[in-house]
Amino acid sequence: MNIILLGPPGAGKGTQAAMLVDERNMVQLSTGDMLRAARTSGTEMGKMVAGVMDRGELVTDEIVIGLIREQLETADASGGFIFDGFPRTLAQADALGELLQSVGQSLDTVVEMRVDDTALVARITGRYTCGNCGEGYHDEAKKPKVEGTCDKCGGTEFKRRADDNEDSLKTRLMAYYKDTSPLIGYYYANKKLQSIDGLASIDAVKSSISAALENA
Ligand code: AP5
Ligand code: MG
Repeated sequence: MNIILLGPPGAGKGTQAAMLVDERNMVQLSTGDMLRAARTSGTEMGKMVAGVMDRGELVTDEIVIGLIREQLETADASGGFIFDGFPRTLAQADALGELLQSVGQSLDTVVEMRVDDTALVARITGRYTCGNCGEGYHDEAKKPKVEGTCDKCGGTEFKRRADDNEDSLKTRLMAYYKDTSPLIGYYYANKKLQSIDGLASIDAVKSSISAALENA
């Protein structure tokens, strides 16, 4: 099953994708994670996109479509793909349809995670991840079981994203409303869209996504 998790910054896409990977053997394709990895490894492309990402603007369609193409052609997709943070523009959505077709696959459903802007500020400013394995946490909603120690790998170093500040978040939200929200209509018209309440608890959102996948 191939699915898109669609929602604004902080909607919970990465949190839910990680659980789907663990439980359903799906492959998470997060363009945000791929771009951050390119920055960390110091590639030319990573250097080129760093400022754009920190300001909260969108990276060019050409770059992100290239990243997704590479993954679709090489990753083992027996459990299906979760597209997290991609597509983000109508051009990316068209490209995804064509890429899936070219590898003999199709899109099963798009789960729109509905949240309101006020909740997003708290989610984004409270977010941090394990510096070793990348497991995601939140100052209030998801703390490690043992303070200062990652539940998943036992790591003790944590980090926060450079774009997780209120200024950058404003730009990211505007980019979502201007460039990404038209995808809601696009996938509704293609009879792929299911919308769920992303403001509920992490476990309740997980149940809604499971129900949406059953319904796909
Ligand atoms: P990306 O990394 O995709 O960031 P984003 O879309 O802004 O989304 P986030 O990762 O911030 O949020 P999320 O929905 O994953 O939330 P999370 O689960 O972490 O993109 C970053 C940048 O890269 C972009 O700005 C752009 O520059 C570039 N880029 C990436 N893809 C691109 C593309 N396709 N085209 C062009 N440019 C692209 O949750 C957030 C926090 O809330 C966590 O702490 C979590 O623990 C907590 N939380 C989660 N769910 C709940 C809940 N139900 N209740 C309470 N707390 C919760
Ligand atoms: Mg994310």
